[in-house]
Amino acid sequence: MQCLSESMKEDGPVDENSSVHAVDTDSVMQRFNVPFEYPVYFSRGVFSDPHNLTLQRAICRLEPHRRHRFVAVVDAGLANANPAIVQALQAYALRHADTLELVDAPRVLAGGEQLKHEPDAVRALQQWLHDQHIDRHACLVALGGGAVLDAVGYAAATTHRGVRLIRLPTTVLAQNDAGIGVKTAINAFGVKNFLGTFTPPFAVINDFDFIATLPARHCIAGMAEAVKVAAIRDRTFFDWLTAHASALANFEPNAMQWMIRRCAELHLQHISQGGDPFESGSARPLDFGHWAAHKLETLSAHTLMHGEAVAIGLALDTRYAVTIGLLEMPALTAMYTLLNRLGFRLWHDALDARDQSGRRRVLDGLTEFREHLGGELNVTLIKQIGKSVEVHATDEREVNAAIDWLQEQDRNRLHIGRKEVHCEMV
Ligand SMILES: NC(=O)c1ccc[n+]([C@@H]2O[C@H](COP(=O)([O-])OP(=O)(O)OC[C@H]3O[C@@H](n4cnc5c(N)ncnc54)[C@H](O)[C@@H]3O)[C@@H](O)[C@H]2O)c1
Ligand SMILES: [Zn+2]
Repeated sequence: MQCLSESMKEDGPVDENSSVHAVDTDSVMQRFNVPFEYPVYFSRGVFSDPHNLTLQRAICRLEPHRRHRFVAVVDAGLANANPAIVQALQAYALRHADTLELVDAPRVLAGGEQLKHEPDAVRALQQWLHDQHIDRHACLVALGGGAVLDAVGYAAATTHRGVRLIRLPTTVLAQNDAGIGVKTAINAFGVKNFLGTFTPPFAVINDFDFIATLPARHCIAGMAEAVKVAAIRDRTFFDWLTAHASALANFEPNAMQWMIRRCAELHLQHISQGGDPFESGSARPLDFGHWAAHKLETLSAHTLMHGEAVAIGLALDTRYAVTIGLLEMPALTAMYTLLNRLGFRLWHDALDARDQSGRRRVLDGLTEFREHLGGELNVTLIKQIGKSVEVHATDEREVNAAIDWLQEQDRNRLHIGRKEVHCEMV
């Protein structure tokens, strides 16, 4: 850690219209840097392969020779699909009893967005960490989708101001985005992710085998984040996604594994090299498509999954970029076609929900997004595939026109059938 403190004497500003002179202020400028690091392992068979030591190494990575206390939380969606998982975790701890001590039976938590709406669930986790004497050098291991990881992460981050969290993401979206980054959150006061922290995990383990039990709808949803990050950062990856769209739509393991890996790498690169890991500034390139997505999730009462809403948000903002003359039509065609081929429907009736004045309610998403950023609106758009740009104002008429366009495309799709829609697009 680098520390620097400067004694400073500031002359207070003089208000020329007033006879009052501000008093000199004595202050110390406190400044330090704290380096963060955490490993993200890509593995298979973390529990099923007896030779796989990834979790043990992750827990013990700073102090390999002492015994480590830990507790574990398992997403009920995973536990239902894979009933042996809880026992496998317990057996794993017993096999490594020289270095690991599982101090209580793993807790199975109902996963999905509902968990993030329940402050009592977070409170119960904190109470459990208290009862089990989980201190800042013990671990909480969480297996689950993005919602479980967000809520459990929030409980871990706020207990003792941060106990070690090891994430094992078990959905596509959690493996390629939600589970590998530095954010935790729960929803509150009707606003998504209103309460949360920036807290890097202690380690992340992406075990591709978990994806095998994931329902098709969730597999598709997670791919939206790959399209997003490719569109703003990496044309080659976008082209790869396009070339492998059929394989991905059929969830072919090699294609899925590479898609997850590359998407995760690009997200990690952005966090470590983007210059603003804890999002103090207003620019949020990784939130491309998200101002509408977050609002659509709420407007649809979360019947739209995060990834499904992101796909609509990407299509909307890409069309908008064309309507304001920022982007050429072929890029929109490429984006719309890819999302369609991966299995996304790029319309939801929530886009057309109106308030009493007849205004589309999704437009409130822009105001909420601006507030979330801290006052200045920053919407990420693309000027070509692989290159993003920030804009600070949006034209409501053109956003409406882009929504109308999405509706029209969707009607055509229903009319002519999903497969042909990309050929018919105008
Ligand atoms: N913290 C971040 O940086 C970040 C980034 C993006 C998204 N998110 C959040 O992530 C959440 C969405 O995450 P998600 O897409 O993983 O959905 P999810 O967590 O809602 O999980 C979807 C469903 O899959 C089930 N499930 C999980 N793993 C399974 C498995 N292996 N087999 C069968 N079922 C399984 C869950 O129980 C749930 O019902 C949203 O709340 C979003 O806000 C957070
Ligand atoms: Zn997202």
